[in-house]
Amino acid sequence: MFDIEKIREEFPILHREVYGKPLVYLDSGATAQKPRQVIDTVDYLYRDLNSNIHRGVHFLSEQATELYEAARERIAAFIGAAEKEEIVFTAGATASLNTVAYAWGDAFVGAGDNILVSEMEHHSNIVPWQLLAERRGAEIRVLPFDESGALRTDLLPSLVDERTRVVAVTQASNTLGTRPDLRPVIAAAHAVGAVVVVDGCQGVVHGGVNVREMDCDFYAFSGHKLFGPTGIGVLYGKRALLEKMPPFLGGGDMVDTVTFEKTTYAPVPLKFEAGTANFVGAIGLGEAVKFVQRFDPAEIEAHEEALLRRATERLSAIDGLRIYGTAPGKCAIVSFNVEGVHPYDMGMILDKLGIAVRTGQHCAEPVMDRYGTTGMCRASFALYNTLAEADALAAGVERAVRMLRN
Ligand code: ALA
Repeated sequence: MFDIEKIREEFPILHREVYGKPLVYLDSGATAQKPRQVIDTVDYLYRDLNSNIHRGVHFLSEQATELYEAARERIAAFIGAAEKEEIVFTAGATASLNTVAYAWGDAFVGAGDNILVSEMEHHSNIVPWQLLAERRGAEIRVLPFDESGALRTDLLPSLVDERTRVVAVTQASNTLGTRPDLRPVIAAAHAVGAVVVVDGCQGVVHGGVNVREMDCDFYAFSGHKLFGPTGIGVLYGKRALLEKMPPFLGGGDMVDTVTFEKTTYAPVPLKFEAGTANFVGAIGLGEAVKFVQRFDPAEIEAHEEALLRRATERLSAIDGLRIYGTAPGKCAIVSFNVEGVHPYDMGMILDKLGIAVRTGQHCAEPVMDRYGTTGMCRASFALYNTLAEADALAAGVERAVRMLRN
């Protein structure tokens, strides 16, 4: 059963106060809070099991290796990968996307090719492609979104051609909440032999994913937004593509044999895991996935939809407030501005009321430009938020507007 009070009990930080007020945490899009089982696992690993993986025959090393590989297996099943070898542990989604842009990109993108990037991407799914385009002499094309925040998939035929090598797109926008229909995007890319790289940072949390059904080629997400530790992320890649892709970082653990004449590489995924892996993070992320798997995804979705509905209704009733991103099927992320009120002023007053929202460009400057604004306030919800917190947000915004307008 989805019992919100019981769920909140599992997140120690949700019971703290800021400025003497109960914390209303509405910044899970930036980083989610951690359930006790993740915190306890990380604590246990450092206290009782700390030992480098894949490197020792001693007891602790073998135990840590086993847990690390078990986490990989759990994550593979969680996102619907065909096999655990398709899961590469990285430092985060940014590292995952850069791995593809450098390793795949440098090998398979050349002068005169093009890379299609959606207009609603986070900077981490824009800048690595721009760097690649500069290195290789390729062209960046942009797939726009409309006023409501819906992706203009109708424009795909004019943007994708036989020189398109990569299509980079989000599963859920961190600013607009839009969850674009990726089917036409993936079909158009595959029709010309391009690979599709999906940023799943928000999508994996809000609705989840089955990468095989989606049929994306690469999928990236961060652990810390999925209730796991910071500094750990995942790059999913279809096995055939990972095998074709040269390594990105060189070092220990990613090799088969090394001589000064020639080095051969370890099989996937280790080929992409140079150096001491963040095994504490990976095992912690496995525990976070275990936490999420306790719930029926439909119940999480229904709860988040109720939060989104309440926040949208209450905020929309405020004079001069504009919500950015109203596409049908969006996830529980609400970005807004109030006429005549700077988003930082709004964020600071909400903060003093104990309400944590994100303010600024949300690492998505092209989205700001599209709407002609320099910043927005963003409330991003998670499964542990309550309807009362959505009400507190609206009441806080009303209070801030009264203070700032008088
Ligand atoms: N990408 C994170 C966000 O959207 C940090 O806030």
